[in-house]
Amino acid sequence: MRALLLNFVAIAWTLDVYESCPPYEEYSKHQHLPFSDGELHLSYQRPVPECRTFVSRAVDQQIEDMKDRMSDPDLAQLFENCYPNTLDTTIRWHDSNQEYPRTFVVTGDIDAEWLRDSAHQLSVYMPLLSHDKSLKRLVLGAVNQQAEYVLNAPYCNAFNPPPGSKIHGRPMTGDRVTPPSFDINDVFECKFEIDSLASFLLLSAQYYEATMDMSFMTDRWFEAVQLVYDVAKLSQTGSYAENGKYIAPVYSFKRLTEIGTETLALNGHGFPIRNGTNLIRSAFRPSDDATTFQLFIPGNAMFVSAARMLFPALRDAKADDLLASYKTLADEIEHGIMEYGTYTHPKYGKVFAYEVDGYGGIVNMDDANLPSLLSLPRFGFINASDPLYLNTRKMLLSKDGNPYYLIGAAISGIGGPHVGTKHAWPMSLLTAIMTSDDDEEILNLLKMVKRSTAGLGLMHEGVNVNYPQDYTRSWFAWCNSEFARTILDLAHRKPHLIFKEGVPAYGGVDGAAHPRN
Ligand SMILES: *[C@@H]1O[C@H](CO)[C@@H](O)[C@H](O)[C@H]1NC(C)=O
Ligand SMILES: *[C@@H]1O[C@H](CO)[C@@H](O)[C@H](O)[C@H]1NC(C)=O
Repeated sequence: MRALLLNFVAIAWTLDVYESCPPYEEYSKHQHLPFSDGELHLSYQRPVPECRTFVSRAVDQQIEDMKDRMSDPDLAQLFENCYPNTLDTTIRWHDSNQEYPRTFVVTGDIDAEWLRDSAHQLSVYMPLLSHDKSLKRLVLGAVNQQAEYVLNAPYCNAFNPPPGSKIHGRPMTGDRVTPPSFDINDVFECKFEIDSLASFLLLSAQYYEATMDMSFMTDRWFEAVQLVYDVAKLSQTGSYAENGKYIAPVYSFKRLTEIGTETLALNGHGFPIRNGTNLIRSAFRPSDDATTFQLFIPGNAMFVSAARMLFPALRDAKADDLLASYKTLADEIEHGIMEYGTYTHPKYGKVFAYEVDGYGGIVNMDDANLPSLLSLPRFGFINASDPLYLNTRKMLLSKDGNPYYLIGAAISGIGGPHVGTKHAWPMSLLTAIMTSDDDEEILNLLKMVKRSTAGLGLMHEGVNVNYPQDYTRSWFAWCNSEFARTILDLAHRKPHLIFKEGVPAYGGVDGAAHPRN
């Protein structure tokens, strides 16, 4: 009883303090002391301890361990700011004292949770869960909360604070969406993106892999995983039956807007796709922009990878039927990707398409948001040394192969329609690092990442390729986690590029990180 009471007091206190701290969106637009000792004098950006939304001793210890080892003070400062950013600033609500803990993780500057963003934001802490009980409980709560969101509205991408949090969300209004079955108060936005559902599977799988704790496998969770399967199956249906009859898709979306990528063509259905490809439709991309053709290849690939990562959990839970269903589905989709989602480019040879319609229509590009084509090895869909991936990568990182590869005096990288043709995304530079084995390329990319922050010491969304002071989103927690993931990946894979001379590899996200407790 005493422990429960203390917990309760701690939670109430956290929220109270949150309200009285400077809003982080504003805070992160300005420099704060102490600056790094490197040539860039990057700002320190952690909130003062009383204003952090969650504190993990294991994370703080890992920051100290990494700082001791890293040779470049600017990069070290970025790691110190970015790695804890999700815990420091985005845990808007955490109810730890129930049978069923729950956690609401905002994306940063918007008081809503994206299934995709929050899964990637948290995944960088997975290796520490076995060292920090309260962090483990926090992530367990996030899995539970995502299951609730999926069950309430499986076609939606972003969600409002849970009623129990007493935080006011902004109910979804204006958009006309089918199926209309959800409560608009729960939903922030309802764009159907297949990678959102894959993110829920991924978060669950990563939690299980890190902890072997089965307590997230509640009846609610199994229902949600079944629902994801059902939605995926329904979304494999194309636009015309054998006899030529048009089949309206289950999901449709219409918004009154002057931005072409914020609504769907053909009465909210999107352009027709061919039946029988086995690929899942995705009305929107991970950028939340409409797809041109709904057979979105990176989202399908991530779905395959995430489903396969979940197999051990389903096997250990003896959920044999569900496991068999997912195995068949993953194989079908993979087959569809290889058959319909690849083509021979006149210059680059056999490559992946970004989107297809199954009729031969191809969208050839990449967008910085994950999952992207560039990121496919990161999710385990394909080996980074596979010729199909290497051809694709070469094409995507060239001016004549990808309309959103942007070159500038400050940075060169991939952007996308979401922010526009002047801004490349640091997220794409980080993805390029994680998929490269070439030291020179990695060092060049790291240099651009360091120079992309306008001296502020955090990752931004889109950055003007000639002038990093022109950027979007001062508080973009997902990309801060991606930066940390990149540095931890290098610590493990290429320590000589970031550590002081002679310092050996350090177990990062892919290894066992062992903070001194
Ligand atoms: C679409 O294709 C699948 C697989 O080939 C088939 O089973 C299904 O009957 C087709 N749907 C329609 C409506 O024709
Ligand atoms: C990728 O392929 C290379 C060469 O065949 C192999 O050494 C490496 O282990 C593979 N990596 C993964 C992640 O499978």
